[in-house]
This record gives sequence, C-alpha cells and structure tokens, in this order.
Amino acid sequence: MIVTIDGPAGAGKSSAARSLANRLGFRFLDTGAMYRAVVFAALEQGVELTDADALEQVAAQLRIELGDQSVLVNDQDVTRAIRTQAITSATRYAADHPGIRALLVDQQRAAAAGHECVTEGRDQGSVVFPDAECKVFLTASERTRGERRYHDLIARGEQVTLEEVLEKQRERDERDTTRAVGALIQSSDAVVLNTDGMSPDEVVDRLYEIVQQRRVAK
Ligand code: DC
Repeated sequence: MIVTIDGPAGAGKSSAARSLANRLGFRFLDTGAMYRAVVFAALEQGVELTDADALEQVAAQLRIELGDQSVLVNDQDVTRAIRTQAITSATRYAADHPGIRALLVDQQRAAAAGHECVTEGRDQGSVVFPDAECKVFLTASERTRGERRYHDLIARGEQVTLEEVLEKQRERDERDTTRAVGALIQSSDAVVLNTDGMSPDEVVDRLYEIVQQRRVAK
C-alpha cells in the first residue's frame, strides 16, 4: 500500500507523515528533503543555482539516502543543514527544474518499489503515485502554518520575525501551486485534512484512521 500526503508548506506534513509511517511500519519518503539536498550540494560545490544545466549535473551525480531520522548526501549527514531558511528559499531552483523533477520522481518510485510506503511532498498523489491506494491532502490556514514554522525556526536558533516567515510562505505557496511541472494540486481522490487547532498527535491519529478506512475498503 502507498499512502501519499501532499499539501502546502507548514501544514505539519513531515512530522505527521513520519510518525504515521512508524506506526504503520511503512517506509517513509520525505521528498522535499531531496529537492533541498540538491540545492545544498550545489551551494557546497560552488555551482550557480541559476545555471540550470550545472544544477541538473549536480542532481544526476548525487546519492541521496533518506534514513529513518536522517538525510545523507554522498555519505554526508545534512539532516539539519537542509532545513535552514536560506536553503528553504533557494530550493525552488531545484523544484522548478523539470529535468531535476524527472530525476527525483524516478528515485522516489524506485525507493517505494516493493515496499509499503508513506510518501510526503507536493506531487506525490498527482504525479508520482497516481494509483496510490490512500491519498491525503494535508493543509491548515496560512496563519497557523506560518506560526508553526516560525516557532520551529526560533527553536532552531534562527533569527526571524513572524511577518518575514508569513511573507516567505506566501511566496513559496505561490511558486508551489503555479510551477509548470509538479505543482501542488488537490487530487479529486484525496481526503482533505485541515489541521487547524489539532495537536500533532491528533493529526497522526486521524491519518491512521484514514489509512485504516482505506484498507477496509480495499
Ligand atoms: O516539504 P518541504 O518544505 O521540505 O519542500 C521543500 C520545497 O521543495 C518546497 O518549496 C516544495 C518543493 N517540493 C516539491 O516541489 N515537490 C515535492 N514532492 C516536495 C517538495
């Protein structure tokens, strides 16, 4: 069984999807980490992010390993380094690049092949796994999402204001929903879950229920 969880930034997808995968005993794919990893590696190698060909070369030569709690890029642990505000903003250079998307989509399908899997991103139910048995669109209001991300960044020691976070989030929402390939859309066969006012545990409980209902319906 494949469970796809798509939605906008800050809806709490990553942590909820990871906990859900643990509870189900499924493999977990954090696909946003892959786009982040490409940009992180390019910056480390001194590659201009606006050089589309060079960026694609970086992506093609990268070995990304998504562990249970960690992300390795060519054996380097980048788990925390790919979560900074700077990388978050720059990741659009990888996410907007059709060639890089094609490469990463192939890797995502290969990682899921033969496994039960919870996969999280923007295009998982629409493009990568259109036949997934269980699709969820996880969302929350702009304000809730911004506040969650703000608290996350502060906890990690970054110096930001809520206004800055909201502004960046609006830009990211705009890009995520309008990119030519792999844009965030709500698949008509996805269950919509709005997490406003829900605790992280409540979100995971609800996701687990949704999966169980799909399993019974199969
Ligand atoms: O989920 P995230 O914040 O880690 O994602 C980082 C960026 O990558 C985000 O701006 C959207 C993009 N992304 C994407 O285009 N497709 C995916 N499957 C996952 C993420």
